[in-house]
Amino acid sequence: MKRTPEPELMEIPSQVRAYADADFSRSDSMVVRSLEKYLKKIGRTLNKSDLIFDIACGPGNISERISRNWPFVKVLGIDGSKEMLEEAEKKLAKNIMNNLTYELVEINSIATGERNFQLKADVLVSNSALHHFHDPYKFWDALKKLGKSECIHIHRDLIRPTSIEKAFEIKEKHLSNSPEILKKDFYASLKASFTVDEVIQQLSNAGLSQLEVFQVDELYFEIIGSI
Ligand SMILES: C[S@@+](CC[C@H](N)C(=O)[O-])C[C@H]1O[C@@H](n2cnc3c(N)ncnc32)[C@H](O)[C@@H]1O
Repeated sequence: MKRTPEPELMEIPSQVRAYADADFSRSDSMVVRSLEKYLKKIGRTLNKSDLIFDIACGPGNISERISRNWPFVKVLGIDGSKEMLEEAEKKLAKNIMNNLTYELVEINSIATGERNFQLKADVLVSNSALHHFHDPYKFWDALKKLGKSECIHIHRDLIRPTSIEKAFEIKEKHLSNSPEILKKDFYASLKASFTVDEVIQQLSNAGLSQLEVFQVDELYFEIIGSI
């Protein structure tokens, strides 16, 4: 199936609300688990001088999990949608985590150099972010600028199904009890996503082939490594 990009930023209030209210805890927890496993594998422990960026953090579900898991590490969630960050800030006001902050950042502007982001991360994580980018190389170029050398990367995203019928079947299977707006968004995301082979090619073209890409299950791939 050919890729159909979806709007990059999620700014429509009803869409933002539905996403913020949805329960993605099973998948979200995998990002934390993958980072834990990778740190163990390379024998690295995080300390209080480390900085983690959650790229395209949306309502901050994963930013919060990371902050809770490593309370002594500074975490910065960045997203280009004011509406999403309002949701993230609302949650943070309830859950209070002193090591977590959010910043409104349009990520293409980092890739193009329009925005010069001074802070550099020791760890870059993202979830369901890459497929939002109309030009995936903008995503990779931004990440190259945002990471220190030897930066750890953990990125997780949807895999584009082989056909429109398969995309429909996956949507019905995984979101059968979800609100219609969420189902519609998920379907659009599946069609906007990349295949594992496309991601491998992107990483190679972007000079990031040290990062490893592998399929996790029917829905997701993960990218893990250090550059
Ligand atoms: C599907 S949500 C994922 C949110 C979060 N990572 C999570 O897993 O819950 C995608 C997010 O990417 C953000 N986004 C998409 N394109 C972006 C861009 N060019 N710059 C900044 N944020 C972007 C959207 O606004 C949205 O919040």
